[in-house]
Amino acid sequence: MRIPPEKIEEIRSANDIVDVISQHVRLKKRGKNFLGLCPFHQEKTPSFTVSAEKQVYHCFGCGKGGNVFTFVMELEKVSFTEAVRTLAEKVGITITFTQADEQRESEIENLYNACRFAGLFFHNNLTKTDEGRGAMEYFRNRGFSEETIRTFGLGYSMNSWDALLNKTKEEGLQPESLLKAGLLRSRDDGGQYDYFRGRVMFPIFSTSGRVIGFGARKIREDDPVQGKYINSPETPIYNKSRVLFGLFHSKEAVRSAEHALMVEGYADLISLYQAGIQNVVASSGTALTEDQVQLITRYTKRLTLVYDSDSAGSNAMLRGMDVVLAHDLEVRIVELPEGEDPDSFVRKHGGKEFSKLVDQAVSFIDFKAKQLLRAGAFNTPDGKAEAVRSIVQSIAKMPDELKRNFYIKEVSAKYDIYETVLYRELERWIHEGKRSFDSGNRFQPGRADQDAPPPSAPEGNSAPRVSSVGVRAAERDVLKLLLENQPGLINFIFTHITLADLEDEQANRLAERILAHLDETGSAEISGLLGEIEDPALKGLLTDIAVSKYELSKQWETMEVRIEDADPWDIARGAIAALKKTSLQRQIEANQKLLREASQHGEDAIPFVQRHQELIRLLKEVESPEFLKSN
Ligand code: CTP
Ligand code: MN
Repeated sequence: MRIPPEKIEEIRSANDIVDVISQHVRLKKRGKNFLGLCPFHQEKTPSFTVSAEKQVYHCFGCGKGGNVFTFVMELEKVSFTEAVRTLAEKVGITITFTQADEQRESEIENLYNACRFAGLFFHNNLTKTDEGRGAMEYFRNRGFSEETIRTFGLGYSMNSWDALLNKTKEEGLQPESLLKAGLLRSRDDGGQYDYFRGRVMFPIFSTSGRVIGFGARKIREDDPVQGKYINSPETPIYNKSRVLFGLFHSKEAVRSAEHALMVEGYADLISLYQAGIQNVVASSGTALTEDQVQLITRYTKRLTLVYDSDSAGSNAMLRGMDVVLAHDLEVRIVELPEGEDPDSFVRKHGGKEFSKLVDQAVSFIDFKAKQLLRAGAFNTPDGKAEAVRSIVQSIAKMPDELKRNFYIKEVSAKYDIYETVLYRELERWIHEGKRSFDSGNRFQPGRADQDAPPPSAPEGNSAPRVSSVGVRAAERDVLKLLLENQPGLINFIFTHITLADLEDEQANRLAERILAHLDETGSAEISGLLGEIEDPALKGLLTDIAVSKYELSKQWETMEVRIEDADPWDIARGAIAALKKTSLQRQIEANQKLLREASQHGEDAIPFVQRHQELIRLLKEVESPEFLKSN
């Protein structure tokens, strides 16, 4: 029987980690932390650190770390449940499994359970029932393979008012949480009925792979419900504007391709994925939101929107463009032949042809110009002025000055308009934008850091730092900042860097876990995280970060800022600057190589020289103490 999470939390907080460990290790106070000889490996100088504040331990000698439960598990070589029982007994808490305990399980967990339960039921209906055959036939006609159906957990909701309801009762589950998840509805007489009936079901997954809702597509002519698709309502675990359909399945591919395709539909995504184009996410037919753009920037800064000209949704997607530009994403647009959507195109012509189209994607400027041209905007001088203005307005959304300059040059050459005129226009829109920006979304001035980070590992510690070799200071700081879970700070960081900028694999994986945990629980509580992470190396890195100081804070010390006053926003700026610097230095090297090659082959080297100058300028910007201070 599972111990309810609140119970575990109750037992954990009743067992202070310093008390428990003190019974086995002699601990001495060092600043905010406690220090002793590690019980898990032989050592002469103490490097075993316990943080009372964070309720975790970490050994800088052997890299082990965890919370009070892991400590008992490791020391006494027992299972998690046994460790929980031992510690419960110690403080006189009894673990009972009454129905009341069950009911106290958090609402969130219940919602996840309801969705998982329904997802399995729908999948089973599809693959194992007679009625499901028709739905299976539907998917087959769409060209979805069995493997695809499994991968995406596709399903079918019975054409019945009570199939899911009966199954719920049969399994002894409370209909309550299914009601909350929008899977069941209430009748006036107090009874319930199935919400999704006789439709094929597309489960929607969270970034970390839990089912959080469903899209349901009509497959019968006589379906009385309006709408080709109906979707789960918003719930505490499903917020439409924060989810990108398919990201759970595609995130690895997005990361390794350093590029994501954005399509509109569930079927579009699945067809592309099946055709081997896996770096794809779907907006589910709505205008891109700030949150969705934020989400994708964690994985890549290069986005290609796949535009199907017939769809109303595509226009919504284009409206989301400003958000995309404002986040400094490199955005391109693919236009499909008339009458096609990605799904129909890839089924007719295959993945290779689709990839060719993607390679021909145009910049958003060209795309916008083409749209305006098509609408006849360039036919009169006034129209032309208006069209160019609209383009410049989009350019003004870009935060990167260098990029703006490139685009202005391009527009100047293309439409034969003096750059100075364009710049004047640009300035105007930038100021306009700033004014509306200032009222809401502005970069917040940092608050004083009330809970100053605990002092770091013992100074002059001779034991090697085992856990986090290769994790650079800036990466460590980003991780530590994520644990702060301060509103705005995480967005700020991922506006300027992506997860891919954390080059160390462990750091990268840990950051992703923390973000997923934040998304799901709204908290970055270390104890909760430790409960989720299996890999001991990741666990070790997490506790290491938790008990250590900010690394870049050393920089503030030399600037005569006391570490206690170091502000997380300053640390974030420092870390971003350091990560950007590495990336720029790498780009400079690569560019110099191209420059050499060009001049050896007698080719035009000027673009590379210009690029070099620009990169150097950017590098100076990043190195300036004023970096990111103004926006
Ligand atoms: N959508 C929705 N509700 C609707 C219509 C559309 O939620 N009533 C969302 C779905 O996520 C859908 C996407 O918008 O996948 C794109 O809609 P559309 O292009 O109309 O559908 P397709 O994805 O092409 O669907 P199909 O190929 O199954 O017809
Ligand atoms: Mn379609």
